[in-house]
Amino acid sequence: MSVVPVYLNNAATTWPKPECVTDAVVDFLTNGGANLGRGSSGRRDIGTLSLVLDCRIKLAALFGASDKEACLVTFCSGVTEALNVVLKGFFDHKTQRGLRVRFVTTSMEHNAVSRPLTSLSQKGAEVVTAPCDEFGALDPALLDGILSQTGHDDLVVLSHASNVCGTVQPLDRIANIAKRHNAPLVVDSAQTAGVLDIDARELSIAALCFTGHKGLMGPQGTGGVLWRADFAEQVLPRTEGGTGSFSHLMSQPDTMPDKFESGTPNLPGIAGLSAALSYLADTGIENIAKRERELGEVFLARLRRVPGVTLYGLPDMTENRLSVFALNIAGCDNGVLAGRLSDAGFDTRPGLHCAPLAHRTLGTLPEGSLRVSIGYFNKASEVEAFWDCVESLI
Ligand SMILES: Cc1ncc(COP(=O)(O)O)c(C=O)c1O
Repeated sequence: MSVVPVYLNNAATTWPKPECVTDAVVDFLTNGGANLGRGSSGRRDIGTLSLVLDCRIKLAALFGASDKEACLVTFCSGVTEALNVVLKGFFDHKTQRGLRVRFVTTSMEHNAVSRPLTSLSQKGAEVVTAPCDEFGALDPALLDGILSQTGHDDLVVLSHASNVCGTVQPLDRIANIAKRHNAPLVVDSAQTAGVLDIDARELSIAALCFTGHKGLMGPQGTGGVLWRADFAEQVLPRTEGGTGSFSHLMSQPDTMPDKFESGTPNLPGIAGLSAALSYLADTGIENIAKRERELGEVFLARLRRVPGVTLYGLPDMTENRLSVFALNIAGCDNGVLAGRLSDAGFDTRPGLHCAPLAHRTLGTLPEGSLRVSIGYFNKASEVEAFWDCVESLI
C-alpha cells in the first residue's frame, strides 16, 4: 500500500492513528486474546474482562457519565449499527404496545439516520424532517413547533455536526426543547465525539451514538451507544444470542450491558479504542479542537484568495463549525479534481458523502462537492501545499 503524503479525509476516518492504538491491538492479539466472559476466569480471561470494562469506563467518563454507569455503554461496529439498534429497537418497543411512533429529524442527516428512518416509515412510523438553513443549521424553534403537535410517541434524532460542511447544531438548545416535550433525544456524534465536549448527562441525551474510528482515533469497526438508563428500557434488542451470562435462560437477558451485546465483540478493536481514549484524555479535547480550528483558519484564509471557489456551510471558523469543508471550483468536476489531487498525493473525498439530504439542503445535488476534512495530525504546511496544488491544477 502506498503511503498517502497528505491526508485530508479525516471526516471519513482519522489517520494516522496514535501509535499506542496499533500497539494495543497487536498486544491484545499477541498477549491477551481471551474471549469476553467465555473462559475459566484465568489470567487472560480476567485481562479481557478488565480491558472491556476499562474501555466502558473511559467512554462513560468522556461523555459525562459516572463509572457506575459503565454498563450503559453498548459496543457496536460503529455509529451506523448503533443508530439501527436504537431507532429500530425503540420502534419495536412502542409498536408492540400499540403506540404511534413519530421520528423527528433534520434535512442534514447522513444515510446512517435517513435509511433506517425510511425503512421504519415503510413499517408505519411517521417521519418529520425539519428543514435546515442554507448553512446546514437547524433553527431550534422549528423543532419546538413540531414537538408541540401531540398524539404520538416522539423521538428526536439528529447528527451533532454535518459530515458534509462541518456545521455544528445548537445541541444544548435542541436538548432543552426535546426535554421540555419529553421526547427522547438520540444524537449521531460521528463527527464530534473526541473533537467537541459532549456531556450526555447534562443534556439528558437518551442515546448518544458514537463511532470509534473518527475523532476518537480508534480502529474501524468500533463504536456504540451511551444510554440513559430509563431509555434503554424502552428499546427492544434486535440481536439475541449468547452473552456469556445467564446461559440457563432461553430469552435475552434484560440486564445491561448484556441486553444489547450478543456474540463476541470486536475485542482487538476495543483494545485499540481504549488506548485511543487514553491518548485523547492525555492530549485534551480542548487542545484537539483548538488545533483543528487553527488549521481551519489557515484553510479558509487561503481559500478566500483562490478565484472561483464556492464554499458551502458557514464562512468562518466559529464554535458552530468544524474543520470539515465542502467546496466546488468553477469549471471543475469535483470527482475529477479529487482524482487529480489524489494523484498528486492529497487525499480528499468528492461526491455526496452518504448524505444526499444534506447536499440537497446546501444546494449541491446532484454533483455534490469536494470535501476537505482536517485532523489533529495535519500541519499548516500541508494545508498550504493543498491549495498550492489546487491552484496549479485549475
Ligand atoms: C454524520 C455521520 N453519521 C454516520 C456515519 C457513519 O459512521 P460509521 O461508518 O462509522 O458507522 C458517518 C460517517 O461518515 C457520519 O459522518
